[in-house]
Amino acid sequence: MVWESSVTLVAAALALSNLVNGLPNSHPSKSHYPGWAGIKHIFAFGDSYTTTGFNVSLAQPSPANPLGNPTYPGYTSSNGPNWIDYLTTTYNKSFIETINLAYGGATVDSTLVAPYKPTVLSVKEQVQTEYLPIYASQSSIFPWTSDDTLFTIFIGINDIGNSYSSQNATLTPTIFSELSGLVDQLYSTGARNFLFLNVPPVDQSPLTQAAGPASQALEASAISDWNSRVVSLSKSLTHRHSDVTSFVFDTNKVFSRVIEHPCAYPQTCAYQNTTQYCEAYQNGTPTPTSFNATCGVSVDKYLWLNSLHPTFRMHEAIASQIVKLIK
Ligand SMILES: *[C@@H]1O[C@H](CO)[C@@H](O)[C@H](O)[C@H]1NC(C)=O
Ligand SMILES: *[C@@H]1O[C@H](CO)[C@@H](O)[C@H](O)[C@H]1NC(C)=O
Ligand SMILES: *[C@@H]1O[C@H](CO)[C@@H](O)[C@H](O)[C@H]1NC(C)=O
Ligand SMILES: *[C@@H]1O[C@H](CO)[C@@H](O)[C@H](O)[C@H]1NC(C)=O
Ligand SMILES: *[C@@H]1O[C@H](CO)[C@@H](O)[C@H](O)[C@H]1NC(C)=O
Repeated sequence: MVWESSVTLVAAALALSNLVNGLPNSHPSKSHYPGWAGIKHIFAFGDSYTTTGFNVSLAQPSPANPLGNPTYPGYTSSNGPNWIDYLTTTYNKSFIETINLAYGGATVDSTLVAPYKPTVLSVKEQVQTEYLPIYASQSSIFPWTSDDTLFTIFIGINDIGNSYSSQNATLTPTIFSELSGLVDQLYSTGARNFLFLNVPPVDQSPLTQAAGPASQALEASAISDWNSRVVSLSKSLTHRHSDVTSFVFDTNKVFSRVIEHPCAYPQTCAYQNTTQYCEAYQNGTPTPTSFNATCGVSVDKYLWLNSLHPTFRMHEAIASQIVKLIK
């Protein structure tokens, strides 16, 4: 397996159910959201938690592979399918075709927060050099419409991870201003339905654990700030555009619950180790359930595949909870 390292509706509704990890936005005056069962196309933007290694120049989505290329589940960081794979092919209620432009190591804008290597495509590049020229025109090779398409954005892990130690108070507002502008560019091409995923508690990842408690506290606070800004961005989007439906999914909450109680979700109940990774597994294994005696249990019993990425069970739990939010 190859991988690259690297809520907005009414608050009262959230209180009613802790099973639904998020909130849909204010009731749009002219909704284009058909309900989850009516979604037939997805555009995904993000980083290694979302990438499947899709190449825009090769096969486009089709019944043979709803994510186009490479062979399902693609080049993920999860040692198996990831959340967008599961959402597209397992928790779907219709046949969905997904254009996944996410890229391992991505930040919102490489000039604001440099990625781990210069060739990484930021969300800005995913939007401006891939989505806009190739897919924005709805009648081309991928005939989506405003009424049957969901735009997902799951970003921030690398923006935070690569910058939290600098404690630059103006950086995150600048990043969100950039991100809001990119979302408006999507809107201007007809995007009306959005799903934002907030940042998981990577302050508890083996990577940041190794940096020590002070770093963990600093990163946790940066994540909390980031995640409140995701909610604000979504609210602002629906205020400015009454025909937008926008969801914010609380990835952070699902992760946190699983780290404490693997059986919080049936998909993650098999986890036996939610705090560390095993070196023999960290670059991926021949199958999603491979076993090496030096690790004690098989790779799928570990939440962490390596220092920063969860294995496929966590991704399946995320997809299973997303569909409760966006129904
Ligand atoms: C995508 O596919 C094209 C056509 O085969 C190839 O030239 C290009 O190198 C590929 N891009 C990546 C990033 O692999
Ligand atoms: C969900 O997606 C899979 C894979 O494309 C497809 O075979 C299945 O028919 C879809 N389910 C529904 C209810 O359309
Ligand atoms: C903090 O971030 C802002 C916005 O990106 C940037 O202009 C500024 O140079 C940064 N300050 C430092 C000390 O790096
Ligand atoms: C988790 O896995 C690590 C690495 O294999 C190991 O050192 C640690 O003891 C395990 N923890 C538990 C609770 O099994
Ligand atoms: C198990 O992991 C150890 C340590 O990484 C490695 O030396 C060994 O070759 C692995 N065994 C198998 C059967 O892959």
